[in-house]
Amino acid sequence: MASRPALEVENARRTLTDLCRPIRCELAEAERIFRHELRSQFAFVQQLVDHCGDYQGKRLRPALLLLAARACGSVTSAHPVLAAVVEMIHTATLVHDDILDESMVRRHAATVNAEWGTETAVLLGDYLFTHAFHLAASLDSTLACRWIGRATNRVCEGEMHQVHQRGNLDLDESSYFSIIEGKTAELTAVSCRLGAHYAGADEATTEALDRYGRNLGIAFQIADDVLDIWGEERLTGKSLGTDLEKQKLTLPVIRLLETADPATAANARRMLGEARAECRKQLIPLLEQSGTLDYSWQRARWHVKEAIDSLECLRESDSKHALRVLADYTVQRAS
Ligand code: IPE
Ligand code: IPE
Ligand code: MG
Ligand code: MG
Repeated sequence: MASRPALEVENARRTLTDLCRPIRCELAEAERIFRHELRSQFAFVQQLVDHCGDYQGKRLRPALLLLAARACGSVTSAHPVLAAVVEMIHTATLVHDDILDESMVRRHAATVNAEWGTETAVLLGDYLFTHAFHLAASLDSTLACRWIGRATNRVCEGEMHQVHQRGNLDLDESSYFSIIEGKTAELTAVSCRLGAHYAGADEATTEALDRYGRNLGIAFQIADDVLDIWGEERLTGKSLGTDLEKQKLTLPVIRLLETADPATAANARRMLGEARAECRKQLIPLLEQSGTLDYSWQRARWHVKEAIDSLECLRESDSKHALRVLADYTVQRAS
């Protein structure tokens, strides 16, 4: 991947850990709340919950929420609760998404659907969603529930929109951006919004943090879609290539179909129409020759810049710096 220096990629994971150092106690508290909220008297349910707790992801949304709080004011006892809530919603969407994508691997382990079957995965996703709202309702005000509810509605709409557009080889960029803003950016936006608001930020600052999280989320999903084609499973720890297998068109592919010469575009359409596992291997040379990888990074970087610009209203602090670096991290990561 020519436009991503190897050293930057190698350093990406370390960067995230370093950035989270100032909030490590709050992250640990969010972890404790996460597990406590989900505990069950039934051994089988507890086993499923332990699976979610044991195989952790990057904890990006809790990190965004807590860093936004520190950058806007101070962290309160509500913040680790909210951090656990957004991670629960995120985990629920992943458990359900792996059913839709028939993915076998997630967070370097078997997916819930691969290990215990679709029925269990549907129900575990529901269990995570309901517990997230049960936990959010433990806070004094109903505002968090309203905001998280609205964001989750949009995440689900985004996933439904994407399912409906599966196999549509004429999907345009604007529909793609609308899908990813819903399924991914709504949750990163609300994470930052909650962090800011519960730290005492005024409305304008809370809106600015929402904008930061939204643009970061869009860049994050473009990077994820690039990794689905060019990434390595060894590093991502999840099944890749499923977007193409499921005929879910993402930015590089949309760009190829829109800009390639007629013969190349027809060739790409034929490969995509067959939707086989080999599609990825066959399509990569066409995508690379057409400059779609650079184009996608360029679009992602534009959103990173928008995200960083949204932070202008905040006074300088180590947390503001961390938010800036985190935005850059979204397009440098390999996992
Ligand atoms: C995966 O999110 C789903 C997308 C929105 C692309 P993450 O990459 O944050 O997943 P984990 O939590 O680290 O596993
Ligand atoms: C789905 O997008 C992300 C959600 C918001 C659920 P992907 O299907 O690209 O996510 P991964 O690649 O499986 O993590
Ligand atoms: Mg998926
Ligand atoms: Mg993906």
